[in-house]
Parts: sequence; C-alpha cells; structure tokens
Amino acid sequence: MSRLRDGFQRTIDYMRISITDRCNLRCIYCMPSNGHKSIGYKKILSYEEIVRIVKVAAGIGVRKVRITGGEPLVRKNVTYLIASIKNINGIEDLSLTTNGVLLSRYAEELSDAGLDRVNISLDSFRPDRYREITRGGDIDVVLRGIEAAEKAGLLPIKINVVPIRGVNDDEIEEFARITLKAPYQVRFIEFMPFGVKDIWGPEKYISTDEIKSIVEGIGLLKPVKLRKSGPARYFRFDGATGVIGFISPISHHFCEECNRLRLTADGKLRPCLFSETEIDLKPAIRSGAPDDEIERLIKLSIEVKPEGHNIRSQKSIVNPKSSSGHQSSVKTSDQSINSSLVTRHSLKRPMSRIGG
Ligand code: 5AD
Ligand code: SF4
Repeated sequence: MSRLRDGFQRTIDYMRISITDRCNLRCIYCMPSNGHKSIGYKKILSYEEIVRIVKVAAGIGVRKVRITGGEPLVRKNVTYLIASIKNINGIEDLSLTTNGVLLSRYAEELSDAGLDRVNISLDSFRPDRYREITRGGDIDVVLRGIEAAEKAGLLPIKINVVPIRGVNDDEIEEFARITLKAPYQVRFIEFMPFGVKDIWGPEKYISTDEIKSIVEGIGLLKPVKLRKSGPARYFRFDGATGVIGFISPISHHFCEECNRLRLTADGKLRPCLFSETEIDLKPAIRSGAPDDEIERLIKLSIEVKPEGHNIRSQKSIVNPKSSSGHQSSVKTSDQSINSSLVTRHSLKRPMSRIGG
C-alpha cells in the first residue's frame, strides 16, 4: 500500500475536510457577533469534487478523514457525503467534528451512512454560560445530541473543551469528573491565538500543565496508551470509565508527529494550521484536469508542509499587528519551492474557514 511521506519523514495519512464555513452558533472566540460573510455556494467544493479529491488522496496513502466546518451538519445532505467517502477504497476511519446542535436529528442517519465517530465541541455545562459563550446556544439540545450519538454507536464519544481563563476555567474539574462515570474521552485543548481579534490574549491562555494540575486535584491520573491517540495525551483516574486527553498545540508542539493535511471548503489544501501556505485545487478540478494533476498538487502540498510552528504563549512574541494576534514562523523541507499555486495569504483565515 502506498505511503505519503513529507520532507521530514512524517507519514501523511490523515485529511481534515472543512465542508462549510457556516455555523449555527457564534462562539465568542471563533466568530464575530454578527457572523462573517460566508464563502458563497459557488466557491465551495461540491460533494462530488470533495469525493474526487479523497479518492485521489486515498490512492496515494490517505487513510483517515475527518469532516469539519464551521459546523458541518448545517450543510445539506452530509449523509450522502459520508456514505460516498466511506465507500472509497483505502479509507479506514471516518469521523466528524460538530457542535452537537443538530446531532439528535442526524446521529442515526450518519451512523447508518458509515460514520465511525464524532467529536463534540462543548465549553460549558452551565446553561447560561453555554448560551453566552456560543451566543445563543441551548445546552439541552447538545446534551440530547450527545445521547443520540451514543445510542447510534458513534463511539467513543469525544468531548472537546477549550479552557479559557476567566470564562470557563472553573469548570475544568467538572469536565474531568464526567470520565469517572461516562465512557467518554474528555479532551482539553489549549486556547490557540486564532479567530476573533482581541479575544485571545496570553492571560486567557491556560497551559496543559496548569489544566492537568487542576484535574489532578480530583485524583491520581495514570497514562493510557490509546491506539488512535493523534496529538492527544491520554490519562485515566483509577476505576474511571472514561479517559481524559490533553491537546497542547502551544506548550508541547506535536509537529514532529503531525500526519495531517487540511482541505478548506473552498478547495485549498493547507498543510499546516499555523502556516498561511495553501495549494489551490479548485482551478485544476474545475478545468477538467486529470487525476494525475490532482495527485501532483496533493504531493506538492506535502512537499511544502512545514517542519513546525513556533507559536508560544508569551506576550513578547505575540505580534499585535497580525489579524489573528499571533505570528507564526514555519520551516519547509524545500525552501526553494515557489510555485504560483502556493499562496501565502496576507489575510489570515478564521478557524471556521480552516476547520479546526
Ligand atoms: N483554540 C482552540 N480550539 C479552538 N477551536 C476553535 N477555535 C479555537 C481556538 N482558538 C476548536 C473548537 C472545536 C474545534 C473544531 O476547534 O472548540 O473543538
Ligand atoms: Fe461554530 Fe465551532 Fe466556531 Fe463555535 S467554535 S462558532 S461551534 S465553528
């Protein structure tokens, strides 16, 4: 079976696909209160175009696919896309990240279509706070969605929480305690300098070390080795049913283990979340280019995949002029690659346009 390796000997076998930048929530750290101007239907890849890209990618080594947004379930007929991707030879793992709002409606259909798992983004269990963070979301709807996902067998249920100082850090313990009784993976993600201007600040960022020490107030954490652990490090309380994961993009980069490529809703392959480098697949796709050309472009995006990012949490390196409040510096294996297809956007994409 073919394998894709980048210039730093990393195997690339995972593609995250954003299928829309629209969302039915407006989380304070992700979207402006009035939302943002959506990319527009014509610029967004059709399901057929996405399936074609995944087929070519699977032919050269991509094995895992995650569907993201915005909120992927706001796009019509997602189950059709899920079923089509599930049918592609070589795709072994298919998952979806959602805010859970539409899960109770779609969980069963998605499972029947072949979806393996869901990650649910949830930053508070308190109804008022949840409404505030998401600007109007109803926690009960999400909780019903989680139940529906469990019932539909979309397992294990993963709950992603982003602790933000002064916003929800007093709920870290509560989130961790869920794992004592429920067979969930509760994953704490460090708050990254993305999204809405002025929301991120070093004082709001909470490192994994700090989150972990709060969690350890409940009891001793024992490391657990999970087969598909990705960038998360997992632990378990003695006798607990669920596990706790820590994802530390800022404090402990996992760049050396990065196995992923991102496809944006408007058809750009983005080799690194923190680099503005993108390869546009749409001109090729829409001008009738053969699969060889799509394959060449996917390989090109892997060639330009940077070795890593050096975003830190310290104030001193945060660039106040940058629209996302951070500066990034990346190294690629071949600094001479300079194709007109590779663009470095001056206007940084919000998270909802990259797909988290
Ligand atoms: N920092 C960390 N995680 C973020 N997400 C969105 N913006 C940020 C950020 N600035 C998360 C969401 C969701 C996933 C898609 O990305 O909470 O879990
Ligand atoms: Fe929507 Fe997710 Fe952004 Fe919240 S974080 S506004 S749920 S895309």
